[in-house]
Amino acid sequence: MRMVDIIEKKKNGEKLTKEEIKFFITGMLNKSVPLYQVSALLMAIVFNGMTDDETALLTDVMLKSGDTVDLSSVKGYKFDKHSTGGVGDKVTLVLGPMVAACGMKLAKMSGRGLGHTGGTLDKLESIPGFQTRIPISQFKKQVADIGIAVVGQTGDLVPADKELYALRDVTGTVNSRALIASSIMSKKMAVGTDVILLDVKYGDGAFMKNVEDATELAKLMVSIGKKMGKNVRAEITGMDQPLGYAVGNILEVKEAIDCLHGKWPDDLKEVCFSSGSTLLLQGKVCKTEKDARELLQKKIDSGEAFEKFREMVIAQGGDVSYIDNPSKFPVSMYSQEIRSTTSGYVSRIEAKGIGIDAMKLGAGREKEEDIIDFAAGIVLNKKIGDKVQKGDVLATLYTERPHFDRIAKDIYSNFHISESKVEVKPIIEGQIK
Ligand code: URA
Repeated sequence: MRMVDIIEKKKNGEKLTKEEIKFFITGMLNKSVPLYQVSALLMAIVFNGMTDDETALLTDVMLKSGDTVDLSSVKGYKFDKHSTGGVGDKVTLVLGPMVAACGMKLAKMSGRGLGHTGGTLDKLESIPGFQTRIPISQFKKQVADIGIAVVGQTGDLVPADKELYALRDVTGTVNSRALIASSIMSKKMAVGTDVILLDVKYGDGAFMKNVEDATELAKLMVSIGKKMGKNVRAEITGMDQPLGYAVGNILEVKEAIDCLHGKWPDDLKEVCFSSGSTLLLQGKVCKTEKDARELLQKKIDSGEAFEKFREMVIAQGGDVSYIDNPSKFPVSMYSQEIRSTTSGYVSRIEAKGIGIDAMKLGAGREKEEDIIDFAAGIVLNKKIGDKVQKGDVLATLYTERPHFDRIAKDIYSNFHISESKVEVKPIIEGQIK
């Protein structure tokens, strides 16, 4: 078999066989296939796609490229939840404890933020002492003992994805349904949870720019999961503006703590209750969505969801006094309110632009080796549909970087104000079973 023939085949829009997929993945990992040939194949896949069967084969080959985590010795329904990435997405921090407080067990390996999207690991590491690099044996023990663990990718899980993802990032080949689906699903399959919920985001701040593409991606990932015997569902949710009000690591942890105390932004609440009730139905904890929503509310009201979050922080070495008293978190040296120069209604907030601004303030990484300023970021004061008077604060920026005037202007330009009232779209667009 020759790699150049496989590239030609995909260039001509033909379907690859399992042997051909295995040849290129194995060759990439043992370095017998050079990365320039892998890049050429990736580009051919971006242009000509893969059938659903081909994508399932690719997922399987990627999954088998490394270790897997066997959770069968852990009693109870283990669940995983994965978002395709967005701005202000702190759902795991809130949803995880809520659902774990209902008796299901969260076993999640999470990623870091890159570019305009934030990552759960960075948010958790903004809690002093919190460890995300823990051995697999400890991860399993924590899931068994307290029912919740969120860690970084440990062990040699899906090395094919590590290699491919890094290459896709620098060759303009991230945006492919087949490549995104196989990347996400191989990682989800490598951690043996019983239940998986995918949050597939669409809109300005997401990989998928419209509902149709997000729905296609969700359908594909659900069908791959099912073929591999998993209980998997997907929700399609909007990312046309940042989720909640806070963007930036400590700022988002503080917002998540507020939510666990019952103080919610509407959109974040709806995503947590919708995804949470879906998980409770998948895990057979509840029979109806209404029961599930009520149970989740009870766990917030009783403080059990917050207590679960505390337990996770303690188990992973975090200083829980910050969780109990969030005013202890450091605050940035500089802050500036961004005020509206017109009156009207907020019609759009460019999520990607806000994500990039937060990154420039220090909240994210442009390059993998960049060091994050955990306190930096942006807190929105207005969301889509809100009425604005001239002079009202639209957002506040926080940073240690003294030269932020340009960024402040940029944040302002991401807000669009219209004269007429604006209808707010529901955040949950649909669900794929
Ligand atoms: N998240 C992943 O893990 N992989 C992708 O390809 C895109 C988003």
